[in-house]
Amino acid sequence: MRSKKMVFGAQFSDVFPTSITRSEMAMNSSVANQPMLYPDLFRDLEKSRWNMASDIPWDSFDPAKLTDEQAATIKMNAITEWSALPATEMFLRDNQDDSDFSAFMSIWFYEEQKHSLVLMEYLKRFRPDMVPKEEELHAVRFPFDPAPALETLMLHFCGEIRLTQWYRRASEWHTEPVIKKIYDTISKDEARHAGAYFRYMKRAIDKVGTEAQLAFAKIGVLMASSGKSGKPLHPTNLHVNSSLFPNDTVQSRLPDPEWLERWLDTQINFDKVWENRVVSGILKQMSSLFDRSFETSTDLNRFRKELIARMAAAGSKPQIQAA
Ligand SMILES: [Fe+2]
Ligand SMILES: [Fe+2]
Repeated sequence: MRSKKMVFGAQFSDVFPTSITRSEMAMNSSVANQPMLYPDLFRDLEKSRWNMASDIPWDSFDPAKLTDEQAATIKMNAITEWSALPATEMFLRDNQDDSDFSAFMSIWFYEEQKHSLVLMEYLKRFRPDMVPKEEELHAVRFPFDPAPALETLMLHFCGEIRLTQWYRRASEWHTEPVIKKIYDTISKDEARHAGAYFRYMKRAIDKVGTEAQLAFAKIGVLMASSGKSGKPLHPTNLHVNSSLFPNDTVQSRLPDPEWLERWLDTQINFDKVWENRVVSGILKQMSSLFDRSFETSTDLNRFRKELIARMAAAGSKPQIQAA
């Protein structure tokens, strides 16, 4: 069995059901009798929770090591994190038949808002001129078009894997010790979020079978083909409201809409090596999810086509067509 620890470290395994394999799950009692994931996730994530007052070394701040350019990127990250608000509204709306997942949203929403808050707290203490204004935060709250819940789940799972690596890299790039620690801390939260979403993906496969597998494989192929798209593939960079196009990505509603690509390309230098960590992380988790080895996005795409053929042979028309 592939090691999840290689991808996410201890943070991911905190919420990962490492002791249960898919075949064991299949032998277990029916899905209807399975307990909700929310109580377990609540317990596990509470154990890993950090304290904003005592776990961030505020007293170690070194003003000589924070540049204007770095402070501006912290502001943009703080606003982007605030977009968990409309994302939560979307998740709750699109998962009204799933109270377990909706309850988990209370944890996810709290932790994402805390990310925004800790970045703003840093600016408030050390660069008050850079603290986002309420209007700037509110600008990223806009309705997302309804979307298939399974695809959205997978999209956010991949988004958390990507953000884990973006923040790890940001922690390296920053020179000021307090903000380095903050990015390292929130990166670990993002890894845990990926682990939690992964558990809901496993549960969805147990509940709805091939349809869920196909949704996850489809989005997995897209998200693992990042080299082919010219844009950073993250939920905050996707168009989500056709009536507001083209101002319907979170990034397009930031005070500096061009910031994300500049941050990746010329500031934190998220190069091919880092990008490969994201892609291999997604493929490793897909390999675990499907009990199959995917070395490249082409392998995963081949599997996606097999699923479509399998559904066609079984007489059910896939909702998700081959691209
Ligand atoms: Fe976050
Ligand atoms: Fe997250």
